[in-house]
Amino acid sequence: MISQATSSPVPNLFLPSPFQVTGVRRETSDTITLRLRPPDGQVFSFQPGQFNMLYLFGIGEVPISISGVHPRTHDLEHTVRAVGYVTRALARLRRGDVVGVRGPFGHGWPLEEVRGRDILILAGGIGLAPLRPALQYLLAHRPDYEQIVLLCGARTPADLLYQPELERWRGRLDLQVFVTVDRGDELWRGHIGVVTTLLPLVERFLDMRRAVVLMCGPEVMLRVAVRELEDRGVPAEQIFLSLERNMKCAVGFCGHCQFGPAFICRDGPVFPLPRVRSLLEIREL
Ligand SMILES: Cc1cc2nc3c(=O)[nH]c(=O)nc-3n(C[C@H](O)[C@H](O)[C@H](O)COP(=O)(O)OP(=O)(O)OC[C@H]3O[C@@H](n4cnc5c(N)ncnc54)[C@H](O)[C@@H]3O)c2cc1C
Ligand code: FES
Repeated sequence: MISQATSSPVPNLFLPSPFQVTGVRRETSDTITLRLRPPDGQVFSFQPGQFNMLYLFGIGEVPISISGVHPRTHDLEHTVRAVGYVTRALARLRRGDVVGVRGPFGHGWPLEEVRGRDILILAGGIGLAPLRPALQYLLAHRPDYEQIVLLCGARTPADLLYQPELERWRGRLDLQVFVTVDRGDELWRGHIGVVTTLLPLVERFLDMRRAVVLMCGPEVMLRVAVRELEDRGVPAEQIFLSLERNMKCAVGFCGHCQFGPAFICRDGPVFPLPRVRSLLEIREL
């Protein structure tokens, strides 16, 4: 269940609960979406932007954003890009397998607080995963917000996530969607360039000085986007970013994700720009 109320995590935050894989959808050549069902018909509430720790026995545990809820079954969705040991094993799961789940963790997007505002969503690559439930929430509460614009970038057309849903979003009259790829192919007729090259197209839909920006993507994209958004007049406190760092405990104990006074797992992963401007300059360790 997508909520903006206080989340209700499993009682022991260190003990994974066994969730059953009820479906696996291939998104791109290296990315899948897992559908996971909580044990004993439990209802799992979360805020868009929060993440779970997914655990495979004998292999390891990784933080993965909650990327949505199945509309009929309410199973949780997690979109995983296979980049290493654990994520490759997650990408090999099949229906009926079991995954350990701890969570939900962290603070999500401030969707309640920004009611009545223009919303600009900027997603690069797998960064669309934590933004997808935010957009689903905004669309479910559409009258509460002014203009909503989604800017979405991927390396190639084949790397675009959630393609059927992206088409449905593009068909809506109450949502502006702009998609770009770094490199096109012979069939691509759309925009080419990094996602920030879409920003000039946005200004006729939004008052940038009043817009609230939600963004997630590679850190190089975040750095460039912050600079360009501020150049266009978006105040820093209206820019929210989701950050990724290596994690272990996910509850602010181990210090693995600590940078200065901030624990990414506990205080983030979504932060207002003024709190993390200096962290953005530090590359992933
Ligand atoms: C809060 C949070 C939310 C996240 N949400 C998602 C999500 O929704 N979907 C998702 O796929 N991932 C997500 N990640 C990233 C994911 O946790 C890492 O990709 C994962 O931990 C890598 O573990 P591994 O064992 O597969 O790779 P490792 O074996 O540890 O690493 C193998 C190689 O992959 C590289 N690598 C590690 N992480 C990444 C990365 N993120 N991108 C590219 N290369 C990488 C390493 O540098 C290394 O070279 C999230 C991370 C955080 C902190
Ligand atoms: S992962 Fe342990 S403190 Fe954040």
